[in-house]
Amino acid sequence: MKTIIEPFRIKSVEPIRFTTRDERERLLRDAHWNTFALHADDVMIDLLTDSGTSAMSAAQWGTMMTGDESYAGSPSFWRFDAAVRNLFDFVHIIPTHQGRAAEAILFSILGGTGRKVPSNTHFDTTRGNIEATGAEAVDLLVPEGLDPNDLSPFKGNIDLARLERFMADHADDVPCVMITVTNNAGGGQPASLANIHAAADIAHAHGKPFIIDACRFAENAHFIKHREPGQEDRSIPDIVRDMFSKADGMTMSAKKDALVNIGGWLALNDDDLAMKARNRLIMTEGFPTYGGLAGRDLDAIAQGLAEVVDEDYLRYRVRTNEYIVERLDAMGVPVIKPAGGHAVFVDARTWLAHVPPLQYPGHSLACALYEAGGIRTTEIGTVMFGRRPDGSEQPAAMDLVRLAMPRRVYTQSHADYVVEVFDELRGAVTDLTGYEITEEPPAMRHFTAKFRPLP
Ligand code: F0G
Repeated sequence: MKTIIEPFRIKSVEPIRFTTRDERERLLRDAHWNTFALHADDVMIDLLTDSGTSAMSAAQWGTMMTGDESYAGSPSFWRFDAAVRNLFDFVHIIPTHQGRAAEAILFSILGGTGRKVPSNTHFDTTRGNIEATGAEAVDLLVPEGLDPNDLSPFKGNIDLARLERFMADHADDVPCVMITVTNNAGGGQPASLANIHAAADIAHAHGKPFIIDACRFAENAHFIKHREPGQEDRSIPDIVRDMFSKADGMTMSAKKDALVNIGGWLALNDDDLAMKARNRLIMTEGFPTYGGLAGRDLDAIAQGLAEVVDEDYLRYRVRTNEYIVERLDAMGVPVIKPAGGHAVFVDARTWLAHVPPLQYPGHSLACALYEAGGIRTTEIGTVMFGRRPDGSEQPAAMDLVRLAMPRRVYTQSHADYVVEVFDELRGAVTDLTGYEITEEPPAMRHFTAKFRPLP
């Protein structure tokens, strides 16, 4: 059969509140034109993030009831620990309340003024946690990763030649080498198994640990299975184990590919690093067998890890985004191709070519999608990345709008509706204006900045 159906039935539903365009214009103005400031029940299709927005399975809700809330040594922790180890064979598994907590702990130990941390592309919280220690976060993505029309299969690869040169020049200042899978900030594009292994080899040649930001490991493994020669007959868990076989650690947001609403972990092989990380964890997150989570959350993660590597699930998951990308592409909306694992990325800098990057074309499109159809998205561009630590501003590498797909939440008719809203915007895209920022915090401004449309 050609039709890829959602591989689940729905037993529990949440209503969507319908709003009118007039209502949405008023609501967005009241939110100072920042989609993060909207009330979620004023949103019809919420594509702000795929993080923490998954629908849990009946089996996951079942484990929530049998979770054990002991402060230390909870059986829930040991179930979590076993499920993580089944896929990621690290010596130390340290739960945290979400991914950025794992990053903050890691870089409180490995960061510091003058240090430099290379990656394919750091996500904003990773960058923030590195820069907060005075260290520098360096992106070394392959050039095709910045070309929305390049159809290369692994546009999330780290540029190995640049990494070699970077290590030759700066190894003394580098505490670790990282790679983000999939590369969220670069369009949800995967890194290949060969690239991950080669990056680890370069790190090790300089005696440095190799750390994977693993949020979307299962989606990345699915792409490896279907795109990398020689991988098609392997199981997803087998590919995942191979992806991590040369890694010395991982940071994880369980809010993505562990199919839960909260959670994360830091995994490490080095005993000394892990000891320091646990000390820090006890101060900021909690005892090492719960790390800021309830016991029931740890059980939901354990069950989610078993479900996320299911091939029927992953095929449906990736197909949803491909379907939207194919339809937007056919109607001439510039999108990042091929489709990413967790999201559709629209190239707003190209589509709104009349809006200069420092007037935030991605932000303008995100506002228009809400006003036209009640769809909430986020800009990944100059608002998110354009402000330098010294306060100056420069255009980001790209101005994208991300339509992030919550896992197992929306159906094909929701996808069709999204496409229809784009079709409506298409006629009037040149009428969309730029924006200016009227108030912003010193860092991570996209979450809380206030905006105003330019005339
Ligand atoms: N790394 C990557 C690649 C991420 O995408 C995120 C979160 C994090 C780390 C931090 O994890 O949210 O659990 O603290 N990304 C979300 C998003 C917020 O919308 O893309 P967290």
